[in-house]
Amino acid sequence: MKDHRQVLRDFEAISGPIEPYAEVLKRYADRLKEWDEFFAKAFYDTLFSYGPTASVFREGERPEREEALKVWYRKVVSGEYDDAFWDWQFRKVGLSHVVRGIPNEFMLSAMSLVQRVFFHKVLEAFPSDEAVRIYGAFKHVTDAIATLIAAGYMYSYLDAVSESTGMSLKLIERHAILVARREYGKD
Ligand code: HEM
Repeated sequence: MKDHRQVLRDFEAISGPIEPYAEVLKRYADRLKEWDEFFAKAFYDTLFSYGPTASVFREGERPEREEALKVWYRKVVSGEYDDAFWDWQFRKVGLSHVVRGIPNEFMLSAMSLVQRVFFHKVLEAFPSDEAVRIYGAFKHVTDAIATLIAAGYMYSYLDAVSESTGMSLKLIERHAILVARREYGKD
């Protein structure tokens, strides 16, 4: 499996370095952190109101989940990212959801929700030129996290297929190309 450093290297080469955006968030972090409660509520109100996502949760789990999301949100808007931060995104935010059987499309849709909620909040709270700058920074950082989530998801499934069948990753890739070619060619 690629590690978080390799995935981030690709992300930054293709989409741009994270550091300038981290600097923007650092400047506004104190105000942005105040929205943690609002964020956690908006996020889980949505996940608990849609059957396929609501069914993932155990009875009584919501308060714990909200606390974890508040911690996550505050760290993201702090703009303070070290290697442990990215490792945490890859493992805990990415792989812990694979452990709970949550599909990638749920994760990426939830990240889109996070970005949209943030966008509305930031437009309400700041003049539009500042709002655009802050949102651009938040989007870049959360896109990097979404990329880690998607990569961790795919590599854990590939490793699982490889370990359970004895097929090499190269062979699985060749099969995937055949499957994609077949599906792509369908009318
Ligand atoms: C952008 C998307 C998401 C973010 C940022 C996020 C964030 C988090 C964080 C920070 C944790 C705690 C991880 C830890 O430190 O142990 C967590 C756990 C969890 N999340 Fe999410 N989450 C996302 C999407 C979802 C979705 C879509 C679902 C359900 C449909 C979900 C269900 C859960 C569950 C069940 C756990 C507990 C995992 C365990 O058993 O350890 N999350 N999430």
